[in-house]
Amino acid sequence: MKKTVILAALITVMVIIAGCAGTSKEIRIGVAMPTQTRQRWNQDGANLERKLNAHGYKADLQYANNETALQIAQIDKMIDEGCKVIVIGSADGYALGDILDKAKNKGITIIAYDRMIMNTDAVDYYATFDNLAVGIIQGEYIEKKLGLKEGNGPFNLEITAGSLDDSNTLYYFEGAMEILRPYISSGQLIVKSGQTAIKQCAIPHWKEHIAEARMYEILTTYYNDDKVDVILCPNDSTAIGAIGALKAVGYNTADKPMPLITGQDADRKNMRAILNGEQTMSIFKDTRNLAEQTVQMVDAVIAGKTPETNDLGNYNNGVKVVPSFLLRPQFVDKDNYKELLIDSGYYNEHDLAEQ
Ligand code: BGC
Repeated sequence: MKKTVILAALITVMVIIAGCAGTSKEIRIGVAMPTQTRQRWNQDGANLERKLNAHGYKADLQYANNETALQIAQIDKMIDEGCKVIVIGSADGYALGDILDKAKNKGITIIAYDRMIMNTDAVDYYATFDNLAVGIIQGEYIEKKLGLKEGNGPFNLEITAGSLDDSNTLYYFEGAMEILRPYISSGQLIVKSGQTAIKQCAIPHWKEHIAEARMYEILTTYYNDDKVDVILCPNDSTAIGAIGALKAVGYNTADKPMPLITGQDADRKNMRAILNGEQTMSIFKDTRNLAEQTVQMVDAVIAGKTPETNDLGNYNNGVKVVPSFLLRPQFVDKDNYKELLIDSGYYNEHDLAEQ
């Protein structure tokens, strides 16, 4: 009789323990990513999914094909399916207010991932790379390579910016122009197209073919008897667009060498372009670290603690200052890629070999 009671008690304890483990596995975390068309978002999504599952959560990963309505529907479903935290790389950072109100009413924590979500008080935390620094680093790279501080010039510059529905574009542009504007004013940098305002330079959805068409138009209108020396590109897709336009009008030859071209993301395709001399530099943002930081935020939220942040003043989304964790971007070019990308295991040499 005594033995039976002890056995029953033991079984009860085991069932409770198993039940708890089962419950923790069932904590759902939504991961809403903007698109699968860019290498980086596939990596971001995969890293987050893997790490969240390894921490015992059930990750619900969705990609929105750059469509706002689709992303809203995906977030809506995540809310209805009981996600406790939703991590969002927004397709349109200005369009999620209403759906996030619904999430907030259900007590769901929202983490803006890489891109800030604007004009809503329902975003709780922001994990990103320092977007202002991305622009500053590109600007300083150009400044150094051309010897602008030493007074060299004039050089012909053309400017490209990101998508206006992505607040990263504003920070990036502000950072880059903070460095370059004084040289445009002094005449060391000449923008022959005259297109220096963010609205003139923006590329909707950061699309390669739009960047290419715009640069082709500029080159065939303003550079028939002259050469462009620098093209500021906010990221790697716009850089690929610029490279396409340049080649179409005869650059990449002894007569017409490629200009200095910037980028961001250190995509495989662009690293190959850097190694073969078509692109000059990119910005390396180690997406493994961003995913790790975000999962730590999720852990803290689920444990009822306050996630670690390191920036409490710079990211105002129009309604509130969102506590943020900023990671440091770095430039990568042919001189340091081995150390940054290969030694760190981000890529192997085969990834970067001509395909
Ligand atoms: C990201 C960049 C990316 C771009 C286009 C931006 O919000 O910060 O890394 O290249 O979106 O996807």
